[in-house]
Amino acid sequence: MSTPVLTFFNNKGGVGKTSLVFHVAWMLCELGKRVVAIDLDPQANLTSAFLAEETLETLWDPPAPVESGTTIFRCVQPLTKVGDIRPPVVQSIHPGLVLVPGDLALAGFEDELSKAWLEAMGSNNLYRPFRLLTAFWQVAQMAAAEHEADLILADVGPNLGAINRSALIGSDHVVIPLAADLFSLQGLRNLGPTLTAWRADWQKRLNNWPEPEFLLPAGRMAPLGYILMQHMERLSRPVKAYKNWADRIPDTYLETVTGVQPQAPVRTDDGNCLARLKHYRSLIPMAQETRKPVFHLTSADGAIGSHSQAVRDAGNDFRALATAILERIGLPVETAF
Ligand SMILES: Nc1ncnc2c1ncn2[C@@H]1O[C@H](COP(=O)(O)OP(=O)(O)O)[C@@H](O)[C@H]1O
Ligand SMILES: [Mg+2]
Repeated sequence: MSTPVLTFFNNKGGVGKTSLVFHVAWMLCELGKRVVAIDLDPQANLTSAFLAEETLETLWDPPAPVESGTTIFRCVQPLTKVGDIRPPVVQSIHPGLVLVPGDLALAGFEDELSKAWLEAMGSNNLYRPFRLLTAFWQVAQMAAAEHEADLILADVGPNLGAINRSALIGSDHVVIPLAADLFSLQGLRNLGPTLTAWRADWQKRLNNWPEPEFLLPAGRMAPLGYILMQHMERLSRPVKAYKNWADRIPDTYLETVTGVQPQAPVRTDDGNCLARLKHYRSLIPMAQETRKPVFHLTSADGAIGSHSQAVRDAGNDFRALATAILERIGLPVETAF
């Protein structure tokens, strides 16, 4: 049995993927789930969000070469030579929550994955290309088994490259964060067909290795829905422009991601919309400073006056979002919170 993997994915940077993974991981933990967060973005922003400066320094700038899987790159690195995956050495964030740290060196793995993608359609020596292509999934599963996790959350960079293709074939579920703007809508139009193509291409590779020598991910990439990130709103544009783009998201998502032809125009209550998240304004720097989710900020952190209400609202929003995610994945939701 493998542990379900949920990836937050879109091909536009700055929409709020990393912040979402960070907050949803904390909230799932608060809802009693055991969570592995894995940072598959070579920019490693999720890792910097979770870990203190000194820990980052030891991880990324060690005084002597490290031979263990302390980052995702060190886990998969032996595959670029003749070795096998190193078991991940996770960072403990909170009881119930661990992190497989990211690594800037991961960018160098992109070419290996591109080669392996072609080799996996070949007729001999399939072990190595499949080991490479599923390396992220294997590492995540090892961490989940060790941590007895209910769920794995993955953060990825904003592109449709080979690293993300590998991350996605190892994903059972996908959530798409979107902003209400032209770039997000355009991105969505590329994203849906890309997921469809990756699913089909991975299936071809699975068919090409009928007797695999180790467990492989099914590459479901089932879309759970989208999250409308409202912090990009009203920065430089009139409200009307925001509404114009926001109104077009439901149909575009339906058509390009789920492949269903919209029957009626824009609905106000779109079932594919998992959440609309507000702009958390000055709570964001406070949260970053203390490396806490916004809903854990206290008056000692500076969340006083109207901020304390905003902290409670954020808690309610993320509780509702995490609950919706669990329901759609089919994991039990504790109702006693
Ligand atoms: N709900 C929010 N309210 C205010 N700022 C946000 C919110 N979500 C994300 N941000 C900010 O937007 C920027 C981009 O977010 P990030 O999570 O790094 O996006 P991505 O991973 O998609 O590139 C960050 O500076 C982050 O602090
Ligand atoms: Mg990011």
